Amino acid sequence: MKKGTRAMTKTVLVTGGAGFIGSHLCEMYLKEGYKTICYDNFVSGKKENIEHLLNHENFHLKEADICDEAALEEVFEAYKPNIINHHAAQKSVPYSVENPLYDLHENLEGLLKIIACIKKYPIETFVFISSGGALSSMLEEGEQSSEDDKPQLISPYAITKFAGEQYIKLYAKELDFNFMILRYANVYGPRQVPDGESGVIPIFLNNIFAKKESVLMAFPDMPKGCTRDYVNVSDVVEANRLGTEHPINELVNIGSGKEEAILDIYEMILEVFQEDVPIRITGPRKGDIKRSVLAISRAGKLLDWKPKMSLRAGLENLKEFELDKQSFSKQI
Ligand SMILES: NC(=O)c1ccc[n+]([C@@H]2O[C@H](COP(=O)([O-])OP(=O)(O)OC[C@H]3O[C@@H](n4cnc5c(N)ncnc54)[C@H](O)[C@@H]3O)[C@@H](O)[C@H]2O)c1
Repeated sequence: MKKGTRAMTKTVLVTGGAGFIGSHLCEMYLKEGYKTICYDNFVSGKKENIEHLLNHENFHLKEADICDEAALEEVFEAYKPNIINHHAAQKSVPYSVENPLYDLHENLEGLLKIIACIKKYPIETFVFISSGGALSSMLEEGEQSSEDDKPQLISPYAITKFAGEQYIKLYAKELDFNFMILRYANVYGPRQVPDGESGVIPIFLNNIFAKKESVLMAFPDMPKGCTRDYVNVSDVVEANRLGTEHPINELVNIGSGKEEAILDIYEMILEVFQEDVPIRITGPRKGDIKRSVLAISRAGKLLDWKPKMSLRAGLENLKEFELDKQSFSKQI
């Protein structure tokens, strides 16, 4: 069957669909033939991320909060989605440390309000987004965090994402839907906003373009900064496509399986963008996990997924995107 026609009758509700990752997902779902409902309150999402989709006959935008029960119910009643892809969240570890109640409200109350709608309007599939970085186990040198390891749970964000996973498993049985839980590493790529820990690449890029010094918060025993696993948004989109088509009631890590120190990333960015701007190293930040790299073999085995874009190639792509953006904004 031709690509783009198979899923024609399926409707997917993408919460956070106007955000960095969500907007790439809306594009993918439309390309695959899904009727796509983008649900977003634009707290960090942007109209410009989805502007090019607004005229698509299968695309519908609902500007509302996931904690707004009436708005949610209206969307479930109007569109009766078969699939929920839940990306809307409070996504910052440091913000969750400062504002645990807000994190709880967004990440768990919001989820439970969606689940309350599912009770009334049954769905087939729930794709839930969690964080492999925040839920990493305590790693020794050379180890990777696997899905069955004990998470450290050292920030409110880690706790609410972990609890979200448990709610999905519980209600999938009770309300009879299939699920896929994707635990992302640090995702990067076009349209990412320069905030939160996972936004380290756009934060560095913004500073570099402004010729402004960046600050690296490092533990004394890790002078190059904490380590992280970076996965390109194109690979993340593919994991969502596969997870939507084959919701196997499992939790899988989605990362590169490669551990990068933040200072090394900074230096790679300077090299790719051919820039030379200094970085200052200071003390560590509360809630930060020291080392993070995900074991990704389960996603390979169960979803037949593996990352295709190297960090260097991803940064080269980002450079093209940023240069296009800059030349476009000069024209207008
Ligand atoms: N970017 C990463 O590296 C990363 C890593 C692990 C997990 N995640 C998860 O992926 C998801 C998307 O992250 P992102 O990086 O694309 O961030 P983003 O901020 O670009 O996207 C989040 C979107 O959700 C919307 N949103 C937030 N709260 C909402 C609410 N109450 N109601 C309606 N819409 C709301 C925002 O406006 C935004 O469009 C989040 O759940 C995040 O926790 C991201």
